[in-house]
Amino acid sequence: MKLLTTLGDLGEAEKLVPIRRSQIAGVSYKTSGDPTLDLLESLAEEGVSAKTHATQNPAGMDLERWSEMGIRQEFADKQHRICTAYEKLGIIASCTCTPYLSGNKPQPGEIVGFSESSAVAYVNSVLGARSNRHGGLDALSAALIGKVPLMGYLLDKNRRPDVLVKSDFRVRSDADYGALGYHIGKNLNMDSVPYIEGLGHASRDELKMLGAASAASGSTALFHVQGLTPEAKSGHCLFRQGRPTETLNVDRRDIARVYEELSSSMRCDLIALGCPHCSLNEIKRISKALQSRTVRSAPRLWVFTSPKVYSEADRRGYVREIKASGADVFKHTCMVVMPIEEIGITSVATNSAKAAFYIPRTTQNRCQAQLLSFERCIALATGS
Ligand code: F3S
Repeated sequence: MKLLTTLGDLGEAEKLVPIRRSQIAGVSYKTSGDPTLDLLESLAEEGVSAKTHATQNPAGMDLERWSEMGIRQEFADKQHRICTAYEKLGIIASCTCTPYLSGNKPQPGEIVGFSESSAVAYVNSVLGARSNRHGGLDALSAALIGKVPLMGYLLDKNRRPDVLVKSDFRVRSDADYGALGYHIGKNLNMDSVPYIEGLGHASRDELKMLGAASAASGSTALFHVQGLTPEAKSGHCLFRQGRPTETLNVDRRDIARVYEELSSSMRCDLIALGCPHCSLNEIKRISKALQSRTVRSAPRLWVFTSPKVYSEADRRGYVREIKASGADVFKHTCMVVMPIEEIGITSVATNSAKAAFYIPRTTQNRCQAQLLSFERCIALATGS
């Protein structure tokens, strides 16, 4: 409660308001370590429990197939203890950064307490729900108390755009959406809300890529897309001061520079798809692209998704199809929050701008990255 009221004071919140949903980051042992483990186990011992429908972010490994990934026993033991402690606190072991695809989907206008920046950007922008960009610890506090301070993106006035983004290049791939998001996030001030023109008919999966990258390179927690996202469509999207305070023009050269910046290596040991975690449609697309093709043993192709989407994809035969090609599908984790640098992988090719940004940073440059389109990732994996 102290943490929430202190945050509220800093954000000049009038009061705390009740929430019914939370998403808790800080699950991977790689990113959270022993202090988080100790805190969670001591909270669990005290018998406190979440008052909201609360879900966990990805862990540092596939909780069942971790040894096949090359994860050490000691890491696995501590990772299991973290997930168990969260479960004792009543936080569901969904282990995904796309909780909105796994039963924790806020309604338009609903106030929630989400951490995981890509999920915050998605629920604010694509679903029209309302969340501030919480850290793992304050999202956990909000889940245990069942309240958040009423401030920031929960208020109408802060949801209005201030920067007009004019994109005049033709977005050709999912990686292009990520590159565009990365460029926007990098060039915006904290608390800015972009209104993006010229995106045509991006799918929800493509907006998921855009939002994840803009939240990684900057602090974007909410964006509006002309004619597409709910608040832009409903006309509630008037500029804060009646007109944009700034215009960001994006052309192909800007996007080419992002690819260059996010490609620190031209070789790869692993091709990784699924940041943010793959939706069912994305898994279906991968299975179709690999149908009757063979994935080489080096570089390997790994796909990451949530346990919920994995089960449905398995039921529909997509997982079998992907595995038949020689690729693999893992759940609960991803290429960024698993200790990729400890399992002999020194370079990763990915279609995710967010992953390409974080991989070198979270491995102290022991693993490099390369941003490629989905089609190029598949071609590289199959040697075609
Ligand atoms: Fe999710 Fe991992 Fe990317 S947590 S957004 S897949 S970095």
